[in-house]
Amino acid sequence: MPSLDLADIRRAHPAVRDDWTIPQEWGHFSAAEHETWRTLYRRMMGVLPGRACDEFLAGLEKLKLADGIPDFETLSADLKAITGWQVVAVPGLVPDDVFFEHLANRRFPAGNFIRAADSLDYIEEPDVFHDVFGHVPMLAHPVFADYMEAYGKGGLRAEGLGALDHLARLYWYTVEFGLIETPEGLRLYGSGIVSSRAESVHALESPSPNRIGFDLERVMRTKYRIDDFQESYFVIPSFEALFAETYKDFGALYAKLEHGPTHEAGEVLAGDRMLHRGDRSYRPHSHAAPPAA
Ligand code: PHE
Ligand code: CO
Repeated sequence: MPSLDLADIRRAHPAVRDDWTIPQEWGHFSAAEHETWRTLYRRMMGVLPGRACDEFLAGLEKLKLADGIPDFETLSADLKAITGWQVVAVPGLVPDDVFFEHLANRRFPAGNFIRAADSLDYIEEPDVFHDVFGHVPMLAHPVFADYMEAYGKGGLRAEGLGALDHLARLYWYTVEFGLIETPEGLRLYGSGIVSSRAESVHALESPSPNRIGFDLERVMRTKYRIDDFQESYFVIPSFEALFAETYKDFGALYAKLEHGPTHEAGEVLAGDRMLHRGDRSYRPHSHAAPPAA
């Protein structure tokens, strides 16, 4: 577990600010690091067309992320003109309240490092490829952009209400690992999926995981895996529907969640709208390396 103490972080990153951001210093990335980005980009583009949702692919196109690790100044200027969001550099994971505060102000914190060239499929902490390639294209979509800001505000509120664990599950099963139903079939939008080549195929094509219609309370009661492919994915009908479901006061729901069941990641419930019932044929850890979170 990386340190989440600012004084510790300052020893390695003296320039870290009180909001945990650092100057990106884009010029410091080596040619090899830019090459790693392009390799990752190319590998993802081998699987994403026809799997990622149109909104993600459109954002990717608009933001022109193919050439190398993006310079956050130009990226932020472009994104700001589209939805008002910016991307800021951080050393790595940041504390929850710091993360929420950035989102609530339409700033997306991105790790300022890239994974090693010899472990393209494995990262312990989200790097710039996961954070930017995975998350930023959806921030160019107006409804999703609003959802992420609302999530940041909701996070600050949930902290005060002691409901963070429940809210974190919503983030996990939407922002990180969400699927969407389209007239052409299921598509990916979760960042943890679209930045992982193996999980992009697994999430849509493997018979193993459950694919279940999104239900807010159900999701908030469901545990998740951080060390392997998900055992269940939740499917939203549209980004508008997701926003409508979440843009209401969670106070009563949080109170209700203090009682009642917690579900295991792979569990199927009587009330679930099953789009696919998983056969659980995938053995955890049977792929070469854990998927990138
Ligand atoms: N509606 C939530 C609340 O009342 C905030 C929220 C919005 C959370 C969107 C997540 C996503 O706290
Ligand atoms: Co992420």
